[in-house]
Amino acid sequence: MERIVINDVGPRDGLQNDPTAVSPSDRIRLINALVDAGIAAVEAASFVSPRAVPKMAGAHDVFAGLDLARADFSALIPNRKGYELAKAAGAKSVGVVLSATETMNQKNINMSLDKATDVCREVLQQAVLDGLTARAYVAVAVECPYEGLVSPEKIEQLSEIMFASGASEVIIADTIGAANPAQVASLFSRLVSQFGAARLSAHFHDTRAMALANAWQAVQCGIRKLDASIGGLGGCPFAPGAAGNLATEDLVFMLEQSGYETGVDMNRLLSAVELAETLVQHPVGGRALAYLKKQAA
Ligand code: COA
Ligand code: ZN
Repeated sequence: MERIVINDVGPRDGLQNDPTAVSPSDRIRLINALVDAGIAAVEAASFVSPRAVPKMAGAHDVFAGLDLARADFSALIPNRKGYELAKAAGAKSVGVVLSATETMNQKNINMSLDKATDVCREVLQQAVLDGLTARAYVAVAVECPYEGLVSPEKIEQLSEIMFASGASEVIIADTIGAANPAQVASLFSRLVSQFGAARLSAHFHDTRAMALANAWQAVQCGIRKLDASIGGLGGCPFAPGAAGNLATEDLVFMLEQSGYETGVDMNRLLSAVELAETLVQHPVGGRALAYLKKQAA
């Protein structure tokens, strides 16, 4: 069976946007529950300005409290300061964020596209020198909430710069969940032929109920690593209209049903969904959750 790696971004993309603040120790509990379920990669926190994203405060404590040998834990970083903080906290893997449009970079990280590109380049090069795993998100990769449709040429060009700067992986992110499977097919087939599927990953939000279809389409293009978020938590505070991420439990279920191996134990994953729900104090869960719970009972 072919293996697909799932990177759970719930502790970052999910919790950064939730109305409930979750303490570092509870975030560690959630991350450990995901790893207990067999999730091999988790985006554990972001090292960002606590004024910009208050819910991610305490990222240092999150990393300090993890057994870093247990899984591939990554940190999202927006700038050089975030990089230094992540490294000091012991992070072995960092992900920079480059949005594909001028306005999205301004809104998200207060930088022009050119400036953000330079900062990403510099941080990736430094991470490689320091022996860290260097990743790059290319965000709003299909549509930007401020500037509309984004061309595949632009995504290819920015991905090329990120790879050339030392990124071992580029994560193509449909930040606002605006993509459809036809767009995913043309974008990913282009990127896969240019860069190879092994260095690419996909990140979908479910705003328009197309995240699962888009994930399937990315898999058809050869992608074997996907982001998802436990319970479908998620959204971006700076991207209006962005709803939750593709739910990890839905993605695992679809892939396993379709003959792929994820390494994830569904019963344990459902425990992680329950824990997430307890921590954020409101119902969470993907589209298949009720069915999956019934099966597990
Ligand atoms: N982590 C923690 N604090 C940081 C920081 C980081 N990575 N980068 C900057 N800061 C602090 C500075 O020290 C400064 O603090 P002070 O006012 O107490 O001296 C303050 O934040 C402002 O710094 P500045 O460099 O002027 O940043 P800015 O106000 O232009 O904001 C970012 C830029 C990138 C720090 C901010 O927009 C940000 O954190 N964005 C993240 C957005 C995000 O997480 N989006 C979702 C995921 S894609
Ligand atoms: Zn996202």
